[in-house]
Amino acid sequence: MRRALVTGANRGIGFAIAKGLQDRGLEVLIGARNLEAGKQAATKLNATALKIDIADPRSIADAVQNAGQIDVLVNNAGVLGSGRVLDDPEDFADSMAVMVHGPYWLMHHLAPRMVSQGYGRIVNVSSGWGAFSDGVAGPAAYGVAKAALNALTVATARTLPGTVKVNAMCPGWVRTRMGGTAATKSPEEGADTAIWLATLCDDGPTGKFFRDRKPIDW
Ligand SMILES: NC(=O)c1ccc[n+]([C@@H]2O[C@H](COP(=O)([O-])OP(=O)(O)OC[C@H]3O[C@@H](n4cnc5c(N)ncnc54)[C@H](OP(=O)(O)O)[C@@H]3O)[C@@H](O)[C@H]2O)c1
Repeated sequence: MRRALVTGANRGIGFAIAKGLQDRGLEVLIGARNLEAGKQAATKLNATALKIDIADPRSIADAVQNAGQIDVLVNNAGVLGSGRVLDDPEDFADSMAVMVHGPYWLMHHLAPRMVSQGYGRIVNVSSGWGAFSDGVAGPAAYGVAKAALNALTVATARTLPGTVKVNAMCPGWVRTRMGGTAATKSPEEGADTAIWLATLCDDGPTGKFFRDRKPIDW
């Protein structure tokens, strides 16, 4: 049975991705910085919670050591600040920590084993706001961090064999705490492309950016 780690899976799109992967027969680890929140979510799925604060490399290293084999990694955790990019250095640091450095550390720790076992699927949950083709939009440092996550996706995919697939995706505008109640998609709809990428077959794509299961421009 394949084992998947989804970060920020205690709520929102992450929880929907975790549920979708479990429904497809994977064993799922609910990554959560607050272990109690992770356990509550895990109970709903009969899954296991894993304490992991994506902004803290030490927490990531500890979590990886406790997690056992991971075949599928979904870098989903995200934060959304407000205001202009140069106004809030703290938001910039946090955005880069959660949406760039954290995914980097997880891929650093987990990819070598995926390579040696000849199977791995990595999904970086990004955003259209991180696309240069869309102007690197969004408030504060959000678009900059997602653009960097997109660049990390391309560079990582290029250095890994085709057996380990690394793709980025945009969930669309989704009704979560981040997306708000006016958003057009349910968490399940927002999770669909990530679930598809996390379970790609052997001849599936790598190093690409998707929305609604279709390639989109960087
Ligand atoms: N919603 C949208 O419309 C939309 C659109 C485009 C892209 N996205 C992306 O989709 C992903 C999920 O977003 P969402 O809408 O589900 O947001 P959400 O409801 O706000 O959930 C964010 C998740 O990330 C976790 N998180 C934040 N900082 C963390 C940290 N340092 N360590 C571990 N977990 C952390 C949160 O944990 P806590 O519960 O502990 O805070 C929560 O589980 C994000 O990457 C977001 O950028 C969302």
